[in-house]
Amino acid sequence: MIEADLFVKNASQLLTLAGSSETPKRGAALAELGVIRGGAVAARAGEIKAVGRTADLESEISLLTGGCAYDASGKVVMPCFVEPHTHLVFAGSRQDEFVQRLQGKSYLKILQAGGGILNTVRATASAGQDELLSAARRRLDLFARHGVGTVEIKSGYSLTVEGELRLLRVVQELSRTHPLDLVPTFMGAHAFPPVYRSREDDYVDLVAGVMIPRVAEEKLARFCDVFCDVGVFTREQAWRILTAGKNHGLQPKIHADELASFGGAELAAEVRAVSADHLLKVSGEGIGRLARAGVVAVLLPGTAFFLNEGFAPARQMIREGVAVALSTDCNPGSSPTEAIHLMLTLACLKMKMLPAETVSAATINAAHAVGMAHLVGSLEKGKQADILVLDAPDYNYIPYHYGTSLVEAVFKKGRRII
Ligand code: NIG
Ligand code: FE
Repeated sequence: MIEADLFVKNASQLLTLAGSSETPKRGAALAELGVIRGGAVAARAGEIKAVGRTADLESEISLLTGGCAYDASGKVVMPCFVEPHTHLVFAGSRQDEFVQRLQGKSYLKILQAGGGILNTVRATASAGQDELLSAARRRLDLFARHGVGTVEIKSGYSLTVEGELRLLRVVQELSRTHPLDLVPTFMGAHAFPPVYRSREDDYVDLVAGVMIPRVAEEKLARFCDVFCDVGVFTREQAWRILTAGKNHGLQPKIHADELASFGGAELAAEVRAVSADHLLKVSGEGIGRLARAGVVAVLLPGTAFFLNEGFAPARQMIREGVAVALSTDCNPGSSPTEAIHLMLTLACLKMKMLPAETVSAATINAAHAVGMAHLVGSLEKGKQADILVLDAPDYNYIPYHYGTSLVEAVFKKGRRII
């Protein structure tokens, strides 16, 4: 007998996503979800103990007193979504710039005029720690309601030594107090502070020589990210920062080829980044290098949608063997949303991905993009019981019924949080 304190059973489809915890899914494997019809999953103390057909498991499971049996008849049961790219610690909002963009001003022009990211930097600087904490907590609660169980969070809205540390401490505090798993990323290289205008390399020195050592010393981040693009950090500057990060134990990630074809993907391959993100304007050469270097491409269709830009060439990437993941890019400028489910719909319609591929991209491959695939992203014995129940008869329905929440229940480490 297997003792369990949670038994989710009778799912019309249980999507296990099994078998890809070592390396992310690529090519044809991306569409294989490990479906069990009439599936069930049992867990104890937050860990998955058994996965299989309800008919087989029912006789093997002994539900402990006070345990939860959940009947998922007619529903899809799958691992919680993993959100591999957010900027969710900030104050203020930028709806006025949204209107400016509608009137024809570009995202880059707004940034260059001192708005955009710098607008949020000012709002964040004048917010107290409690305000930042409660705003970030609200966004995490929204992610949970959308079925997300793990969230990567970048700093980058302070651009000073103490300010960036302060943002990462907010993430640290949330890690202690919020049920979701959080993965912190240091992104002091998000924009140049105005006082460093025409001496940008001095800011690069500050990031590489002062911020990174402090972040590493205080163990405040796992990854280091750089906005490498036209008008922000050059490839050379990004290389210096990511190399400094690596020397201090921070794994590299890159905002690459979002605004222009800038060689960001090539740099990601060169520094062996864990992920290259955005890639709206990635070159053919860049795609080949991402595939060969095993860099996960984190695609953010909400950003392309919200900036009214062309979408990333997902089909070409999949064809060439790049492991793709999906994310909201939740941030106040280019993608103010927590609606991961909508990203799957956009990925289907605008990047020609299949529904099954989008499910892999937003679960197990997203987990690989944040170094969490040993714990989350699939329903397998030994992994965390992060279980999502959707009001959907099968997986094709998930991106099809769009813009509305399908979430029926979310179990985080075996405990029902939604
Ligand atoms: O991922 N590209 C850079 N950073 C964010 C946008 C941040 C902002 O506009 O506040 C992004 O799109
Ligand atoms: Fe981003």
